[in-house]
Amino acid sequence: MRSSDLFLLFLAVFPLSMHYSCSLIHSAKIEGAQALYNCSSNNTFTPNSIYHDNVKTLMSWFSSNASTRTTGFYSTTVAGKNISDTVYGLFWCGYGDAVPRNCHECVINATKWMTSFCAISKEAIIWQEWCFMRYSNHYFLSTMEESPQISLLNNQDYIGQVGLFNSKIWDLMNDLRTEATNALVGSSRYAYKGVNIEQDKEIYGSAWCIPYLSTENCSWCLSDAIATIPTSCCRGKTGGRVFFPSCGVRFELYPFSQPVASTSSGLSTTTNPPLQFL
Ligand SMILES: *[C@@H]1O[C@H](CO)[C@@H](O)[C@H](O)[C@H]1NC(C)=O
Ligand SMILES: *[C@@H]1O[C@H](CO)[C@@H](O)[C@H](O)[C@H]1NC(C)=O
Ligand SMILES: *[C@@H]1O[C@H](CO)[C@@H](O)[C@H](O)[C@H]1NC(C)=O
Ligand SMILES: *[C@@H]1O[C@H](CO)[C@@H](O)[C@H](O)[C@H]1NC(C)=O
Ligand SMILES: *[C@@H]1O[C@H](CO)[C@@H](O)[C@H](O)[C@H]1NC(C)=O
Ligand SMILES: *[C@@H]1O[C@H](CO)[C@@H](O)[C@H](O)[C@H]1NC(C)=O
Repeated sequence: MRSSDLFLLFLAVFPLSMHYSCSLIHSAKIEGAQALYNCSSNNTFTPNSIYHDNVKTLMSWFSSNASTRTTGFYSTTVAGKNISDTVYGLFWCGYGDAVPRNCHECVINATKWMTSFCAISKEAIIWQEWCFMRYSNHYFLSTMEESPQISLLNNQDYIGQVGLFNSKIWDLMNDLRTEATNALVGSSRYAYKGVNIEQDKEIYGSAWCIPYLSTENCSWCLSDAIATIPTSCCRGKTGGRVFFPSCGVRFELYPFSQPVASTSSGLSTTTNPPLQFL
């Protein structure tokens, strides 16, 4: 998606703030739920057109397939007789946690919100706590995309040895990049672990790449996401996330994911973490 085509709806944020450079920002809040959207505002379709019908079909496929896909990744194409009516779409429930969580409900919510907030957009993308969904009139299932971009931060500054903290985040994120990159293409490319910072303080981080990304592009994408942490995202903050359509990273001072089975040499959690969203 060209980011200049898009505008943003930001739902329900409390200790969070967001960085972006656009002038068209729409904020909204949905009780009890949190999501970030970008919908194309100048690439739109006519209501009741064939493209519109195809988007509706896509949404129904999303809903019906969300309960049956255990990997949490689903991509499909609703083909139009005319290529200009073809809609490409995907959802992925494996980007927020090592094990897809609340996939069906999350996808149902995402389809509802997309349908209401991106009502006539030819392209739309939504990141929720547990699932990520998008559709477009352009084929995107082999491209690496870093736009639109979301960065979220916890406004609290880290109290303690800030220099040490920053370098621990950097090292942790680069380890996670290697782990996510080394996961098999097509598998759940999610890495998560915790490391000690100082005394009894730990930091937890995750990195993910969309399953179809090549190893090389996963690594590139994550490098770019990590590079925004000390620059535009969240230097010295106690939590932050950078999400692109193709990959993303997150860190917090508390455990926020389930342990990843095969990896992780640092600390990892042994119980399910509480459902926290910064
Ligand atoms: C849509 O966005 C593009 C840039 O991505 C811009 O060049 C074009 O003028 C916009 N069209 C309208 C109708 O706003
Ligand atoms: C799932 O998606 C496919 C197309 O990819 C569609 O044909 C099918 O009806 C959907 N629902 C179920 C339950 O499989
Ligand atoms: C396909 O759609 C485009 C854009 O709406 C239109 O210009 C073109 O004539 C259509 N082609 C056919 C074969 O209907
Ligand atoms: C779905 O939306 C409802 C109502 O906004 C919310 O309470 C619920 O937590 C959401 N579920 C998920 C999995 O995001
Ligand atoms: C990496 O991403 C670029 C940009 O989307 C794409 O052109 C290229 O084919 C990808 N490389 C691989 C090996 O998938
Ligand atoms: C959504 O699109 C706008 C407009 O180009 C862009 O500036 C903004 O960064 C995007 N939002 C997010 C969350 O990336």
